[in-house]
Amino acid sequence: MATVAELLQPVEADLEVLLSDLRSLIGAGHPILQAAAEHLFSAGGKRIRPGIVLLISRALSSDGELSPRHRRLAEITEMIHTASLVHDDVVDEASTRRGVDTVHSRFNHRVAVLAGDFLFAQASWHLANLDDLEVVKLLSRVIMDLADGEVKQGLFRYDTGQSFETYLEKSYCKTASLIANSARAAGVLSGLPETHLDALYRFGRQLGLAFQVVDDILDFTGSDLQLGKPAASDLASGYLTAPALYALEERPALAGLIEREFSQEGDLEQALELVRGSEAIPRSRALAEGFANEAREALTWLPASESRSALLALPEFVLSRLY
Ligand code: IPE
Ligand code: IPE
Ligand code: MG
Ligand code: MG
Repeated sequence: MATVAELLQPVEADLEVLLSDLRSLIGAGHPILQAAAEHLFSAGGKRIRPGIVLLISRALSSDGELSPRHRRLAEITEMIHTASLVHDDVVDEASTRRGVDTVHSRFNHRVAVLAGDFLFAQASWHLANLDDLEVVKLLSRVIMDLADGEVKQGLFRYDTGQSFETYLEKSYCKTASLIANSARAAGVLSGLPETHLDALYRFGRQLGLAFQVVDDILDFTGSDLQLGKPAASDLASGYLTAPALYALEERPALAGLIEREFSQEGDLEQALELVRGSEAIPRSRALAEGFANEAREALTWLPASESRSALLALPEFVLSRLY
């Protein structure tokens, strides 16, 4: 299976430009906030979200060229994503991200809150300057969804009565909304008709849900080193994701451990074993596969190109992180 770099190869040069543009956009601010943002951008994420925007933009371009507005949209997408991670790590009290210390561990909480705000603010400013009201609406909705998702997640901590629906809504807000709406926005900038805009949105939504379910499985099956962030942390924090929710159906004993918030010696280890030893992981994998297939089917209408092939291979790549 391809690595993410191989998959994003049609837009590799564009992503290099994006990274240096992001650095100079952010460089205009305060030295300490700049240092914090630089710290995370240098660590290098997978850049899947701007990669998707760029691949869609290239796949839709008649002359194979990228417009400056499509490039800017990709930058805004990564800024919003990175800002949400900086704040998420504060909320989750996570120590590492992208294989390096999180901003609040490297600097402090005040810096992390401000650096996240600063990135959201910069993203909003550049978004407004695209001068396309429809795109402004799509991406500002994402920022609302991200906040909504974090709040929802917090409200349902240790709540064993929550529905699967709640989990999927939260996952849409935290992860799928950004991918779906930025994919649609790329189509808006290319002047596509409504049916194709809907298809781009659906691609991003289903891919985002697959991505989040995979991330939630990896939290149970991966290592800190492999993930570049602390593993086995969702359940410990009381965040009940797909594996935990499926396991609750099969292992009634799990509910008690969660409801007493793992307060007794060995509770957490026992709970992790209950999840890992049930059918929860294979069932979560099947769920992610379903979303990934739907994502792929949404884009088959794109005209043949290298970028189209990469987009159609992305759902499979997301799943391949599990193997
Ligand atoms: C992390 O996203 C947040 C989730 C939605 C699980 P990524 O795994 O894409 O993070 P980076 O950008 O590659 O670090
Ligand atoms: C990622 O959510 C943050 C957002 C998408 C806002 P998670 O808490 O599930 O992701 P990780 O595990 O910290 O990357
Ligand atoms: Mg987190
Ligand atoms: Mg996670």
